[in-house]
Amino acid sequence: MTDPTQDPRFLQDPYPAYAAMRSISPVTPLPGSGGRPGHLVTGYAEAREALGDARLSKDTAVFFAGQESRRRLHPAVAHTMLASDPPQHTRLRKLVTKAFTTGAVARLRPFIARVTDELLDQWPAGGTFDFVSGLAVPLPVIVICELLGVPEADRPEIQRWSARLFAAGEPGVIDTASHAMADYMTGLIATKGRNPGGSLLDRLIAARDGDDQLSEAELVSLAVLLLVAGHETTTNALGNALLALLQHPAALDRLRAEPDDVPAALDELLRFDSAVSTATFRFTKEAVTLGGTGIPAGVPVVVALGAANRDPARFPAPDQLDLDRNAAAHLAFGHGVHRCVGAPLAKAEMEIALRALLTRYAGIRLAIPADRLEWRHTRLVRGPASLPVLAQRTAEAG
Ligand code: HEM
Repeated sequence: MTDPTQDPRFLQDPYPAYAAMRSISPVTPLPGSGGRPGHLVTGYAEAREALGDARLSKDTAVFFAGQESRRRLHPAVAHTMLASDPPQHTRLRKLVTKAFTTGAVARLRPFIARVTDELLDQWPAGGTFDFVSGLAVPLPVIVICELLGVPEADRPEIQRWSARLFAAGEPGVIDTASHAMADYMTGLIATKGRNPGGSLLDRLIAARDGDDQLSEAELVSLAVLLLVAGHETTTNALGNALLALLQHPAALDRLRAEPDDVPAALDELLRFDSAVSTATFRFTKEAVTLGGTGIPAGVPVVVALGAANRDPARFPAPDQLDLDRNAAAHLAFGHGVHRCVGAPLAKAEMEIALRALLTRYAGIRLAIPADRLEWRHTRLVRGPASLPVLAQRTAEAG
Protein backbone atom coordinates (compact mmCIF):
# COMPACT_ATOMS: atom_id res chain seq x y z
CA MET A 1 0.00 0.00 0.00
CA THR A 2 1.64 3.30 -1.06
CA ASP A 3 0.73 6.63 0.44
CA PRO A 4 0.25 9.31 -2.25
CA THR A 5 0.42 12.06 0.40
CA GLN A 6 4.12 11.24 0.89
CA ASP A 7 4.93 12.12 -2.76
CA PRO A 8 6.94 15.41 -2.87
CA ARG A 9 4.61 16.71 -5.62
CA PHE A 10 1.72 16.42 -3.17
CA LEU A 11 2.81 19.51 -1.24
CA GLN A 12 2.77 21.65 -4.37
CA ASP A 13 -0.60 20.40 -5.59
CA PRO A 14 -2.47 17.78 -3.55
CA TYR A 15 -5.69 18.02 -5.57
CA PRO A 16 -4.94 15.45 -8.35
CA ALA A 17 -3.99 12.88 -5.68
CA TYR A 18 -7.08 13.72 -3.59
CA ALA A 19 -9.29 13.37 -6.71
CA ALA A 20 -7.70 10.05 -7.69
CA MET A 21 -8.29 8.63 -4.21
CA ARG A 22 -11.86 9.96 -4.03
CA SER A 23 -12.71 8.47 -7.46
CA ILE A 24 -11.96 5.02 -6.03
CA SER A 25 -13.52 5.56 -2.60
CA PRO A 26 -14.28 8.59 -0.37
CA VAL A 27 -12.39 6.83 2.44
CA THR A 28 -8.91 5.48 1.66
CA PRO A 29 -6.84 3.19 3.89
CA LEU A 30 -3.27 4.50 4.26
CA PRO A 31 -0.14 2.94 5.75
CA GLY A 32 0.03 5.84 8.22
CA SER A 33 3.02 6.86 10.24
CA GLY A 34 5.01 4.49 12.43
CA GLY A 35 3.35 1.50 10.79
CA ARG A 36 -0.08 2.35 12.23
CA PRO A 37 -2.62 2.12 9.43
CA GLY A 38 -5.05 5.00 9.12
CA HIS A 39 -7.83 6.22 6.87
CA LEU A 40 -7.94 9.39 4.78
CA VAL A 41 -11.38 10.91 4.10
CA THR A 42 -11.63 12.76 0.77
CA GLY A 43 -15.40 12.89 0.12
CA TYR A 44 -17.41 15.93 1.27
CA ALA A 45 -20.40 14.05 2.76
CA GLU A 46 -18.11 11.58 4.51
CA ALA A 47 -15.85 14.37 5.84
CA ARG A 48 -18.84 16.18 7.33
CA GLU A 49 -20.12 12.95 8.79
CA ALA A 50 -16.73 12.09 10.32
CA LEU A 51 -16.31 15.57 11.83
CA GLY A 52 -19.74 15.33 13.44
CA ASP A 53 -19.38 11.75 14.71
CA ALA A 54 -18.80 11.49 18.47
CA ARG A 55 -17.36 7.99 17.99
CA LEU A 56 -14.30 9.66 16.47
CA SER A 57 -12.23 10.94 19.37
CA LYS A 58 -9.77 13.82 19.50
CA ASP A 59 -8.35 12.77 22.83
CA THR A 60 -4.72 12.10 21.88
CA ALA A 61 -3.84 11.42 25.54
CA VAL A 62 -6.05 8.31 25.36
CA PHE A 63 -4.74 7.22 21.96
CA PHE A 64 -1.08 7.49 22.94
CA ALA A 65 -1.55 6.24 26.53
CA GLY A 66 1.03 3.66 27.51
CA GLN A 67 3.13 4.29 24.43
CA GLU A 68 6.69 5.15 25.05
CA SER A 69 7.34 8.59 23.66
CA ARG A 70 10.63 10.34 23.36
CA ARG A 71 8.80 13.58 22.63
CA ARG A 72 9.01 16.32 25.22
CA LEU A 73 6.17 18.49 24.02
CA HIS A 74 4.92 20.78 26.79
CA PRO A 75 1.62 19.35 28.18
CA ALA A 76 -0.09 22.70 27.57
CA VAL A 77 0.63 22.26 23.85
CA ALA A 78 0.05 18.50 23.75
CA HIS A 79 -3.32 18.53 25.52
CA THR A 80 -5.27 21.49 24.22
CA MET A 81 -9.00 21.93 23.87
CA LEU A 82 -8.55 20.87 20.24
CA ALA A 83 -7.19 17.53 21.51
CA SER A 84 -10.07 16.81 23.89
CA ASP A 85 -13.61 15.40 23.75
CA PRO A 86 -16.87 16.45 25.39
CA PRO A 87 -17.62 17.04 28.24
CA GLN A 88 -14.14 18.51 28.92
CA HIS A 89 -14.11 20.14 25.47
CA THR A 90 -17.59 21.61 25.94
CA ARG A 91 -16.60 23.35 29.18
CA LEU A 92 -13.41 24.89 27.74
CA ARG A 93 -15.02 25.86 24.46
CA LYS A 94 -17.85 27.66 26.28
CA LEU A 95 -15.31 29.82 28.09
CA VAL A 96 -13.49 30.75 24.88
CA THR A 97 -16.71 31.51 23.03
CA LYS A 98 -17.77 33.71 25.92
CA ALA A 99 -14.55 35.72 25.68
CA PHE A 100 -14.31 35.59 21.87
CA THR A 101 -17.41 37.59 21.04
CA THR A 102 -18.46 39.13 17.73
CA GLY A 103 -18.04 42.46 19.50
CA ALA A 104 -14.40 41.65 20.29
CA VAL A 105 -13.73 40.95 16.61
CA ALA A 106 -15.61 44.09 15.51
CA ARG A 107 -13.56 46.19 17.95
CA LEU A 108 -10.37 44.78 16.43
CA ARG A 109 -11.20 45.83 12.86
CA PRO A 110 -9.68 49.35 13.08
CA PHE A 111 -6.55 47.82 14.62
CA ILE A 112 -6.31 45.22 11.82
CA ALA A 113 -6.69 48.00 9.24
CA ARG A 114 -4.00 50.12 10.90
CA VAL A 115 -1.50 47.26 11.11
CA THR A 116 -2.22 46.31 7.47
CA ASP A 117 -1.55 49.90 6.39
CA GLU A 118 1.64 50.10 8.42
CA LEU A 119 2.92 46.85 6.95
CA LEU A 120 2.04 47.91 3.40
CA ASP A 121 3.72 51.30 4.00
CA GLN A 122 6.99 49.41 4.35
CA TRP A 123 6.65 47.93 0.86
CA PRO A 124 8.37 49.71 -2.02
CA ALA A 125 6.12 51.85 -4.27
CA GLY A 126 6.77 49.47 -7.16
CA GLY A 127 8.73 46.36 -8.02
CA THR A 128 8.86 42.92 -6.43
CA PHE A 129 7.92 42.09 -2.86
CA ASP A 130 7.02 39.01 -0.89
CA PHE A 131 3.39 39.02 0.21
CA VAL A 132 4.00 36.20 2.70
CA SER A 133 6.85 37.71 4.76
CA GLY A 134 5.60 41.27 4.16
CA LEU A 135 1.99 40.80 5.25
CA ALA A 136 0.63 37.25 5.59
CA VAL A 137 3.07 36.25 8.36
CA PRO A 138 3.19 39.40 10.52
CA LEU A 139 -0.48 40.48 10.35
CA PRO A 140 -2.12 37.44 12.04
CA VAL A 141 0.50 37.20 14.78
CA ILE A 142 0.27 40.90 15.61
CA VAL A 143 -3.54 40.68 15.69
CA ILE A 144 -3.70 37.58 17.90
CA CYS A 145 -1.11 39.11 20.25
CA GLU A 146 -3.21 42.26 20.49
CA LEU A 147 -6.32 40.20 21.20
CA LEU A 148 -4.56 38.22 23.91
CA GLY A 149 -2.84 41.29 25.37
CA VAL A 150 0.74 40.23 24.59
CA PRO A 151 2.95 43.35 24.98
CA GLU A 152 4.36 44.70 21.72
CA ALA A 153 8.00 44.15 22.72
CA ASP A 154 7.40 40.39 23.14
CA ARG A 155 5.70 39.85 19.78
CA PRO A 156 8.79 39.12 17.61
CA GLU A 157 9.79 36.34 20.00
CA ILE A 158 6.25 34.90 19.94
CA GLN A 159 6.39 34.92 16.15
CA ARG A 160 9.66 32.95 16.16
CA TRP A 161 8.34 30.32 18.61
CA SER A 162 5.12 30.00 16.69
CA ALA A 163 7.00 29.42 13.42
CA ARG A 164 9.12 26.77 15.15
CA LEU A 165 6.03 24.97 16.44
CA PHE A 166 5.21 24.29 12.79
CA ALA A 167 8.73 23.08 11.91
CA ALA A 168 7.55 19.83 10.33
CA GLY A 169 9.94 16.92 10.74
CA GLU A 170 11.94 18.59 13.53
CA PRO A 171 10.51 17.22 16.81
CA GLY A 172 13.33 18.67 18.96
CA VAL A 173 12.74 22.19 17.64
CA ILE A 174 8.97 21.86 18.15
CA ASP A 175 9.36 20.53 21.71
CA THR A 176 11.72 23.35 22.75
CA ALA A 177 9.44 25.99 21.22
CA SER A 178 6.42 24.47 23.02
CA HIS A 179 8.17 24.94 26.37
CA ALA A 180 9.28 28.48 25.55
CA MET A 181 5.76 29.44 24.52
CA ALA A 182 4.03 27.79 27.52
CA ASP A 183 6.55 29.29 29.98
CA TYR A 184 6.04 32.70 28.44
CA MET A 185 2.24 32.41 28.71
CA THR A 186 2.49 31.24 32.33
CA GLY A 187 4.51 34.38 33.12
CA LEU A 188 2.14 36.64 31.21
CA ILE A 189 -0.87 35.20 33.04
CA ALA A 190 0.86 35.84 36.38
CA THR A 191 1.61 39.46 35.37
CA LYS A 192 -1.96 40.00 34.22
CA GLY A 193 -3.26 38.44 37.44
CA ARG A 194 -1.51 41.28 39.29
CA ASN A 195 -2.46 44.02 36.79
CA PRO A 196 -5.74 43.09 35.10
CA GLY A 197 -6.50 44.61 31.69
CA GLY A 198 -9.27 44.24 29.11
CA SER A 199 -7.81 41.61 26.76
CA LEU A 200 -9.25 38.21 25.92
CA LEU A 201 -6.63 36.63 28.15
CA ASP A 202 -7.77 38.86 31.02
CA ARG A 203 -11.34 37.65 30.47
CA LEU A 204 -10.16 34.02 30.57
CA ILE A 205 -8.23 34.76 33.78
CA ALA A 206 -11.41 36.21 35.25
CA ALA A 207 -13.15 32.95 34.27
CA ARG A 208 -10.47 30.95 36.08
CA ASP A 209 -10.98 33.04 39.18
CA GLY A 210 -14.76 32.96 38.91
CA ASP A 211 -17.16 30.02 39.10
CA ASP A 212 -16.01 28.41 35.90
CA GLN A 213 -13.13 26.56 37.54
CA LEU A 214 -10.56 26.88 34.80
CA SER A 215 -7.28 25.40 36.04
CA GLU A 216 -3.96 27.19 35.59
CA ALA A 217 -2.83 24.45 33.16
CA GLU A 218 -6.04 24.81 31.12
CA LEU A 219 -5.63 28.56 31.00
CA VAL A 220 -2.04 28.35 29.71
CA SER A 221 -3.11 25.73 27.20
CA LEU A 222 -5.99 27.86 25.88
CA ALA A 223 -3.71 30.87 25.49
CA VAL A 224 -1.13 28.84 23.55
CA LEU A 225 -3.83 27.21 21.40
CA LEU A 226 -5.36 30.56 20.44
CA LEU A 227 -1.96 31.91 19.56
CA VAL A 228 -0.91 28.97 17.45
CA ALA A 229 -4.28 28.21 15.85
CA GLY A 230 -4.82 31.84 14.93
CA HIS A 231 -1.47 32.42 13.35
CA GLU A 232 -0.15 29.89 10.82
CA THR A 233 -3.65 29.11 9.54
CA THR A 234 -4.46 32.72 8.68
CA THR A 235 -1.00 33.24 7.13
CA ASN A 236 -1.63 30.36 4.75
CA ALA A 237 -5.21 31.36 4.04
CA LEU A 238 -3.99 34.82 3.02
CA GLY A 239 -1.26 33.38 0.78
CA ASN A 240 -3.61 30.88 -0.86
CA ALA A 241 -6.31 33.49 -1.43
CA LEU A 242 -3.98 35.97 -3.12
CA LEU A 243 -2.35 33.22 -5.20
CA ALA A 244 -5.78 32.01 -6.38
CA LEU A 245 -6.67 35.56 -7.43
CA LEU A 246 -3.34 36.08 -9.19
CA GLN A 247 -4.02 32.91 -11.16
CA HIS A 248 -7.53 34.11 -12.03
CA PRO A 249 -7.00 37.67 -13.28
CA ALA A 250 -10.68 38.20 -14.14
CA ALA A 251 -11.64 37.51 -10.51
CA LEU A 252 -8.82 39.80 -9.33
CA ASP A 253 -9.94 42.62 -11.65
CA ARG A 254 -13.52 42.20 -10.52
CA LEU A 255 -12.60 42.53 -6.84
CA ARG A 256 -10.40 45.53 -7.54
CA ALA A 257 -13.32 47.20 -9.35
CA GLU A 258 -15.78 46.17 -6.60
CA PRO A 259 -13.88 45.91 -3.28
CA ASP A 260 -17.22 45.56 -1.49
CA ASP A 261 -17.48 42.08 -3.08
CA VAL A 262 -14.41 40.88 -1.13
CA PRO A 263 -16.34 39.61 1.95
CA ALA A 264 -18.66 37.54 -0.24
CA ALA A 265 -15.68 36.11 -2.16
CA LEU A 266 -13.94 34.80 0.96
CA ASP A 267 -15.87 31.54 1.27
CA GLU A 268 -15.05 30.56 -2.30
CA LEU A 269 -11.37 31.48 -1.79
CA LEU A 270 -11.28 29.43 1.43
CA ARG A 271 -12.96 26.50 -0.34
CA PHE A 272 -10.78 26.65 -3.43
CA ASP A 273 -7.45 26.24 -1.64
CA SER A 274 -7.95 25.40 2.02
CA ALA A 275 -5.22 26.47 4.43
CA VAL A 276 -5.88 23.54 6.77
CA SER A 277 -5.54 20.78 4.21
CA THR A 278 -6.19 17.94 6.65
CA ALA A 279 -8.01 18.34 9.95
CA THR A 280 -6.17 17.44 13.14
CA PHE A 281 -5.81 13.88 14.42
CA ARG A 282 -8.90 11.78 15.19
CA PHE A 283 -9.27 8.10 15.99
CA THR A 284 -12.14 5.62 16.22
CA LYS A 285 -13.29 4.83 19.77
CA GLU A 286 -15.29 1.91 18.37
CA ALA A 287 -15.71 0.27 14.96
CA VAL A 288 -17.49 2.57 12.48
CA THR A 289 -18.57 2.40 8.85
CA LEU A 290 -17.81 5.52 6.85
CA GLY A 291 -18.61 5.89 3.16
CA GLY A 292 -19.16 2.13 2.97
CA THR A 293 -15.72 1.41 4.45
CA GLY A 294 -15.50 -0.46 7.73
CA ILE A 295 -12.94 1.06 10.12
CA PRO A 296 -12.01 -0.93 13.24
CA ALA A 297 -11.69 0.64 16.70
CA GLY A 298 -8.46 2.45 17.65
CA VAL A 299 -7.57 3.56 14.11
CA PRO A 300 -6.52 7.11 13.07
CA VAL A 301 -8.91 8.90 10.72
CA VAL A 302 -7.61 11.94 8.88
CA VAL A 303 -10.23 14.19 7.32
CA ALA A 304 -8.86 15.96 4.24
CA LEU A 305 -10.77 19.25 4.36
CA GLY A 306 -9.02 20.42 1.19
CA ALA A 307 -10.20 17.29 -0.63
CA ALA A 308 -13.77 17.56 0.69
CA ASN A 309 -13.92 21.14 -0.55
CA ARG A 310 -13.08 19.93 -4.07
CA ASP A 311 -15.62 17.10 -4.12
CA PRO A 312 -17.60 17.48 -7.39
CA ALA A 313 -20.62 15.84 -5.73
CA ARG A 314 -20.95 18.93 -3.49
CA PHE A 315 -19.27 21.69 -5.53
CA PRO A 316 -19.74 21.25 -9.31
CA ALA A 317 -16.58 21.96 -11.35
CA PRO A 318 -14.67 22.15 -8.06
CA ASP A 319 -11.29 22.96 -9.60
CA GLN A 320 -12.61 26.25 -10.91
CA LEU A 321 -12.57 29.39 -8.82
CA ASP A 322 -16.06 30.84 -9.19
CA LEU A 323 -16.75 33.93 -7.11
CA ASP A 324 -20.46 33.63 -7.90
CA ARG A 325 -20.72 30.20 -6.33
CA ASN A 326 -22.41 29.85 -2.93
CA ALA A 327 -19.52 28.19 -1.10
CA ALA A 328 -20.71 28.87 2.45
CA ALA A 329 -20.95 25.12 3.17
CA HIS A 330 -17.17 24.65 2.74
CA LEU A 331 -15.27 22.81 5.44
CA ALA A 332 -12.17 25.04 5.53
CA PHE A 333 -12.96 25.92 9.16
CA GLY A 334 -13.92 22.32 9.98
CA HIS A 335 -17.34 21.22 11.20
CA GLY A 336 -18.97 19.98 14.38
CA VAL A 337 -17.96 20.75 17.95
CA HIS A 338 -14.37 21.68 17.04
CA ARG A 339 -15.32 24.06 14.21
CA CYS A 340 -12.91 26.98 14.18
CA VAL A 341 -13.64 29.42 16.97
CA GLY A 342 -11.62 32.15 15.23
CA ALA A 343 -13.41 32.03 11.85
CA PRO A 344 -14.93 35.55 12.15
CA LEU A 345 -11.54 37.00 13.08
CA ALA A 346 -9.78 35.14 10.26
CA LYS A 347 -12.34 36.42 7.77
CA ALA A 348 -12.00 40.00 9.06
CA GLU A 349 -8.22 39.83 8.57
CA MET A 350 -8.53 38.35 5.09
CA GLU A 351 -11.10 40.91 4.02
CA ILE A 352 -9.16 43.91 5.31
CA ALA A 353 -5.80 42.72 3.94
CA LEU A 354 -7.09 41.82 0.46
CA ARG A 355 -9.12 45.01 0.18
CA ALA A 356 -6.13 47.16 1.18
CA LEU A 357 -3.85 45.38 -1.27
CA LEU A 358 -6.28 45.67 -4.18
CA THR A 359 -6.93 49.36 -3.60
CA ARG A 360 -3.29 50.27 -3.08
CA TYR A 361 -1.72 48.37 -5.94
CA ALA A 362 -2.45 48.10 -9.64
CA GLY A 363 -1.47 45.30 -11.98
CA ILE A 364 -0.45 42.88 -9.26
CA ARG A 365 0.99 39.68 -10.70
CA LEU A 366 3.21 36.81 -9.72
CA ALA A 367 6.90 37.65 -10.01
CA ILE A 368 7.86 34.01 -10.70
CA PRO A 369 6.06 31.16 -12.49
CA ALA A 370 3.56 29.45 -10.16
CA ASP A 371 5.27 26.07 -10.53
CA ARG A 372 8.43 27.53 -8.99
CA LEU A 373 6.71 28.59 -5.79
CA GLU A 374 7.94 26.94 -2.58
CA TRP A 375 5.24 25.39 -0.40
CA ARG A 376 5.30 24.90 3.35
CA HIS A 377 6.56 21.46 4.25
CA THR A 378 3.55 20.20 6.13
CA ARG A 379 0.52 18.15 5.18
CA LEU A 380 -1.65 19.75 7.87
CA VAL A 381 -1.45 23.38 6.81
CA ARG A 382 -1.09 24.30 3.17
CA GLY A 383 0.23 27.56 1.78
CA PRO A 384 3.08 29.14 -0.17
CA ALA A 385 6.27 29.68 1.85
CA SER A 386 6.77 32.89 -0.10
CA LEU A 387 4.71 34.70 -2.72
CA PRO A 388 6.79 37.20 -4.70
CA VAL A 389 4.51 39.67 -6.46
CA LEU A 390 5.13 42.52 -8.87
CA ALA A 391 2.95 45.57 -8.42
CA GLN A 392 2.71 49.31 -8.87
CA ARG A 393 1.18 51.54 -6.24
CA THR A 394 -1.92 53.28 -7.57
CA ALA A 395 -1.83 57.06 -7.89
CA GLU A 396 -4.49 57.56 -5.18
CA ALA A 397 -2.45 55.52 -2.70
CA GLY A 398 0.50 57.91 -3.17
C1 HEM B 1 -8.26 31.26 7.77
C2 HEM B 1 -7.74 30.98 8.95
C3 HEM B 1 -8.14 29.77 9.77
C4 HEM B 1 -8.45 28.51 9.34
C5 HEM B 1 -8.48 28.00 7.90
C6 HEM B 1 -8.78 27.73 10.52
C7 HEM B 1 -9.17 26.40 10.49
C8 HEM B 1 -9.52 25.65 11.59
C9 HEM B 1 -9.99 24.29 11.55
C10 HEM B 1 -10.13 23.45 10.28
C11 HEM B 1 -10.25 23.89 12.81
C12 HEM B 1 -10.79 22.53 13.26
C13 HEM B 1 -9.71 21.49 13.27
C14 HEM B 1 -10.23 20.09 13.50
O1 HEM B 1 -11.42 19.86 13.77
O2 HEM B 1 -9.39 19.17 13.42
C15 HEM B 1 -9.94 25.01 13.68
C16 HEM B 1 -10.08 24.99 15.05
C17 HEM B 1 -9.72 26.04 15.85
N1 HEM B 1 -9.32 27.31 15.44
FE1 HEM B 1 -9.08 27.94 13.54
N2 HEM B 1 -8.64 28.51 11.62
C18 HEM B 1 -8.26 29.77 11.21
C19 HEM B 1 -8.04 30.86 12.03
C20 HEM B 1 -8.17 30.87 13.39
C21 HEM B 1 -8.01 32.01 14.24
C22 HEM B 1 -7.71 33.44 13.76
C23 HEM B 1 -8.15 31.58 15.54
C24 HEM B 1 -8.07 32.30 16.84
C25 HEM B 1 -7.79 33.48 17.06
C26 HEM B 1 -8.44 30.16 15.49
C27 HEM B 1 -8.66 29.38 16.59
C28 HEM B 1 -9.06 28.06 16.56
C29 HEM B 1 -9.30 27.25 17.75
C30 HEM B 1 -9.15 27.70 19.19
C31 HEM B 1 -9.70 25.99 17.30
C32 HEM B 1 -10.08 24.77 18.17
C33 HEM B 1 -11.56 24.73 18.36
C34 HEM B 1 -12.04 23.56 19.21
O3 HEM B 1 -11.28 22.61 19.47
O4 HEM B 1 -13.21 23.59 19.62
N3 HEM B 1 -8.44 29.77 14.18
N4 HEM B 1 -9.52 26.08 12.91
